[in-house]
Parts: sequence; structure tokens; C-alpha cells
Amino acid sequence: MSLQQPDIESEYFSLSEQEIFLRIAERKKELANRLLILCHHYQQESLFQFADLTGDSLKLAREAAAIHDREFIIFCGVHFMAESADILARSHQKVMLPHLHAGCPMADMASVGAVSMAYRDLVEEGVVQDALSVVPVTYVNSSAAIKAFVGERGGSVCTSSNAERVLAWALTKGEKVFFFPDEHLGRNSALALGIPADEVLVWRRGELLGGNSVEQLRHARILLWDGYCEVHMRFLPDHVRRWRLLMPDVQIMVHPECASDVVQIADRYGSTEAIIEAVKKSPADSKWAIGTEINLVERLQRQYPDKEIHLLAPSSCQCSTMARNQPVNLLWLLDNLAAGTVMNQIQVAPDVAALARISLEQMLSI
Ligand code: 13P
Ligand code: SF4
Repeated sequence: MSLQQPDIESEYFSLSEQEIFLRIAERKKELANRLLILCHHYQQESLFQFADLTGDSLKLAREAAAIHDREFIIFCGVHFMAESADILARSHQKVMLPHLHAGCPMADMASVGAVSMAYRDLVEEGVVQDALSVVPVTYVNSSAAIKAFVGERGGSVCTSSNAERVLAWALTKGEKVFFFPDEHLGRNSALALGIPADEVLVWRRGELLGGNSVEQLRHARILLWDGYCEVHMRFLPDHVRRWRLLMPDVQIMVHPECASDVVQIADRYGSTEAIIEAVKKSPADSKWAIGTEINLVERLQRQYPDKEIHLLAPSSCQCSTMARNQPVNLLWLLDNLAAGTVMNQIQVAPDVAALARISLEQMLSI
């Protein structure tokens, strides 16, 4: 992702936080029903307070798609989320990102060029006879171009809440499945389906045949692109063991982007929505150690003071790219909208959007 964030006029940086908040609230009132502000669960509170809708990446894109009367959609999240919203939005709706450098490093780890070359190598090196026998599945944390690549080849998008179901479907459609870009979500889902470990191979970017032999690849049923989320990589098996020693009745829940050695020994795993639901439904005095982004964990701590909620790791795990969206960026966007200028619009090219929509709709039908 190489978008250039325009400079914000220097006057904005002399405003106090309170002034920024007040002016955002005024602009929201002024733009009223023309505007919809969406916020992902990992966005910090200073922006979260202005959300009209909150949720995980897919829930937000879906709900936004069902609201046709809002002309301006501001997505407080990362780039791929705004792209998904644009793909599912109506043509008169404009989707914007507060800061154009709010990307997802994991999504950027799978480029269409590299993925196309991997497919070409599988055929040219004689692993498979036909590229169509390798069904592509992409996590929603991927570029629109990757979703289009997957849609064009009869594959599907998945999310952290339906990855197992989508993987099981894909295994019935072809000889092998190629899973992008998150190695860990792919492995955790394969393990949950009982696929033997020797049938799950990692494809390392930049190495011939992903660092595997033709024989290994012929034997494998699932190929995992070697992408990862640097936030979720910080949670370690030792953190799980430490909480169990400190607090024997603690419940440990982690996001499936964590490595499988953490997921396997946690009590539960699930998407951000699933984590929120689990804490919400738990009785007062429940004790939790949660392996996901810090802003969500701290929000749960504030919302449920009757429960004891901890971050699984000892140090802060923040999605630093999402945190590039700051209240001042939101105010700047709103001021421009009030003056009739749309800044930071995320627009997926129509041909890419049409193919990406196929892979998103495929997921919804599974
Ligand atoms: P969810 O779809 O579970 O909200 O996850 C998005 C994400 O980026 C997790 O790192
Ligand atoms: Fe991407 Fe990780 Fe941030 Fe999620 S938490 S948006 S996967 S970098």
C-alpha cells in the first residue's frame, strides 16, 4: 500500500484535544444523515467515541452495505477494511480513511505478483497439472487485488470467525487449498479440522517453491502463505502458563491470528466479536487473560469493572498502523466534507471490485 497522506494544515495541531472533540461533534451534527462513521474494535477510544457503528471488519463492511442513504462513510480502521466497505457500498457512497497510512502490514505481505508467481511455479514445477486444482482462500485482511485473484479462481474470502468452515468447503472443491496471507489463522483452522500436520505446509515468500520440495508439495493438502500479524505474534505460550500459575481460575481467550502453540493451550479462541461476546456472557467476578489488541482489552476492562480482565502479554500490544488514525485526522476530513471536498477516498477499481465481490459473496453463501 503506497498511498500518500496529504499534509494537514498546521492550525489543526494547535488545537487542544477538547477543542478537536467539540468540533468533531459539531461537524457530525451538521453532516447528520449524510455521514456514517464506522470504527473497528481496535481503534483507540478518542475515535471510538464518535462511531455510529462498531464491530469487526466484516460486520462493519456488511452493516455499512445495508445502509444506502449515507453518502459519506468514514472507516476508522485500516485500509483493507475501507476497501471491503467500498466494494460492498453503492456507487453514490464514498468511503474514506482518516489517515491513508493506516494499513495492515499482514495484508501487505501477500501481493498479487508474488501470489501469481507461486501459482505459476506449482504448475511449471509439476506439483499440480492445473492451477485450478489449488483453491485459493484469503483472509479478509488482504488487499482488494488479492480478493479479486481469489474470486477469479473460484475461491473464497474468510474471516477469523468462519475460517474453519470456509477451509472445509475449499477442501471439497479441489486437490489443495492455498491460504493467504495469515499462516497462523490457516494453521489454527487446519488443526481444528483435524488435518494432519504433515499435510499442512508453509510457503515462504522469496524461496523457490516456497522452500519446499516437489514431493512435499504433492503430499500437502493445505499451503499456508507465511504472513503474520506482528501484534498477535507477541503472545507466547509462557504468558498462558504464567497466568495459570498466578490465577488458577483464569479463562484464557486469544484471537486465531496468534501462533498455534498459544491457541492450542488457551481455553478458547475467536474473533474480536467472539471475544467480546464471551466476556459479556461471563458471570460477575470472572477472570480473563485475553490475547488480542490492547485497545479492545482496555475497553472490556472499562465496560466490565465487575470482572477481572487482563492483557495476556506483559507489554502493550497495539495495532500501531490503525493508531495512525487520530481525532485530528477525523476533524480534518469532516471540515473538508462540510466544505464540499472529499479527501482520503478509498476507491477500488471497478474491474477489481467486481471480481473481489465474487470471493466475498462466495464466503457469505458458505
Ligand atoms: P476481526 O475481524 O476479528 O475483528 O480481526 C481483524 C483483525 O485485523 C485482527 O487483527
Ligand atoms: Fe493487521 Fe494485525 Fe493490525 Fe489486525 S492487528 S489490522 S492483522 S496489523
